[in-house]
Amino acid sequence: FSDVEADLSEVLLSQEEIHEKIAVMARQIEADYAGEKLLLVGVLRGAVMVMADLARELTLPLEMDWMAVSSYGAGTQSSGVVRILKDLDSDLQGRKVLIVEDIIDSGLTLSWLLGNLRSRGAESVEICTLLRKPDAAKVEVDVRYVGFDIPNAFVVGYGLDYAEKYRNLRGIAVLAPHVYE
Ligand code: PRP
Ligand code: MN
Ligand code: MG
Repeated sequence: FSDVEADLSEVLLSQEEIHEKIAVMARQIEADYAGEKLLLVGVLRGAVMVMADLARELTLPLEMDWMAVSSYGAGTQSSGVVRILKDLDSDLQGRKVLIVEDIIDSGLTLSWLLGNLRSRGAESVEICTLLRKPDAAKVEVDVRYVGFDIPNAFVVGYGLDYAEKYRNLRGIAVLAPHVYE
């Protein structure tokens, strides 16, 4: 990744720090959903890495489903316009749903998604996000599990992209301004 390194200004979270936090969140989820069967809903594409690691860390019976929504396109600013690119395959009636996300930035994507999924007859719909940017919030989102509150910088890696790049980095890093300015 030597050519990628020039695009990054600092490593924010290492692979180890991420995995330790996912284990902590998994223990909380196991305690809260003991005896239940969970439906994890991953939000494509950013949540792929969190979903893969969280699902394997959890010892509860669970199912995984996926939704693709996008509010960003190729830029660094959330447009606030959420589009469903792929809907769930599962019926949510009576299910315990946990939305899995990589990041809450403005909150627009998740506040919309929470309302959308809660209207489908689930018994409960909660959110687990690895990252949250408190200083970027445009709407308050009721989030049950948060890994890290981070500064309002553009971050990439571990599923997070800039123009579809850097998703495969193992850690999470701040994108150098020269990449998008
Ligand atoms: C990113 C990120 C979250 C959302 C957060 O997804 O993965 O889903 O933006 O932004 P918000 O809180 O301001 O709404 P994006 O729309 O870039 O799609 P992607 O997951 O395919 O990268
Ligand atoms: Mn996303
Ligand atoms: Mg994106």
